[in-house]
Amino acid sequence: GSLTGLDLRAEIDRLRKERNAVILAHYYQKPELQDLADFVGDSLDLSRKAAETDADVIAFCGVRFMAETAKILSPDKIVVLPDMNAGCSLEDSCPPDQFAAFRAQHPDHIALTYINCSVEVKALSDIIVTSSSAEKILSQIPPEQKIIFGPDRNLGGYLTRTLGREMLLWPGVCIVHEAFSETELLKLKAQHPGAPIAAHPECPPHILDHADYVGSTRGILDFAKSFPGDTLIVATEPHIIHQMEKALPSKNFIGAPGADGNCNCNICPYMALNNLEKLYLALRDLNPRIEIEEGMRLKAKLSLDRMLEMAS
Ligand code: 13P
Ligand code: SF4
Repeated sequence: GSLTGLDLRAEIDRLRKERNAVILAHYYQKPELQDLADFVGDSLDLSRKAAETDADVIAFCGVRFMAETAKILSPDKIVVLPDMNAGCSLEDSCPPDQFAAFRAQHPDHIALTYINCSVEVKALSDIIVTSSSAEKILSQIPPEQKIIFGPDRNLGGYLTRTLGREMLLWPGVCIVHEAFSETELLKLKAQHPGAPIAAHPECPPHILDHADYVGSTRGILDFAKSFPGDTLIVATEPHIIHQMEKALPSKNFIGAPGADGNCNCNICPYMALNNLEKLYLALRDLNPRIEIEEGMRLKAKLSLDRMLEMAS
């Protein structure tokens, strides 16, 4: 039937109680989804929440690999994703068969893998990392151990530079963070002298070179809450600025620009597929639902469990 005339927020609240559901949202989600979520976080915090919730249903406002991670860690829960097409360019850059072949070519390497990948690639990996846990986890791996790092070559390159650790990098990128323009960023910086730049490590090196702070979405948000000035340039998906404006309404947060001079081209098209209507339908119908074959789930869980242990 038609959804016109429905108070979607009230209906979502009613269904959340009726189904004993928890709504988890990533910082890149639309403000209206962030605002009604029970918890908003970065990839690591969202994984932890999913692992420890006692809800019967997890409604995941994020992309598919995040909802799959929730299902891997909480197999007894029903996990719904408002739009099953919410993928990720990093995941797409790393087909499991090609990743398996790459691993087979380097049998003396372990695979340290960014959480932005498919269940199959997690199952082929030894340890998963998020951007907030990668440095801590990598520093626990003995220096003589050879490492394959995928699928994000920008995060991999950043880790190599900061920790002085050579790794074999898979050549994947995030299309959102690749779209920032160094020229436009420098123009913006000239207009706001002294404004620091906070950047996500998925950005390419020519953007990270200008950053005063590099970290995960939660890290960037913490930096925004503590920097001394009044203007901050934010080089990650601009929906995170919603949380900054809520926390510090008197400060000025500017999304780093793409080649067109504004930050709209840096909206993640996958994250943007979710909306209030689709969340309502997902809670009403308990569909689209994440299902993972049990053997595959158990293999993928090994590398995720290692992440949770090593990041704690
Ligand atoms: P974090 O929230 O872990 O920093 O990840 C960013 C991201 O690109 C998620 O897709
Ligand atoms: Fe994937 Fe990039 Fe979107 Fe994050 S922002 S979900 S890495 S495409």
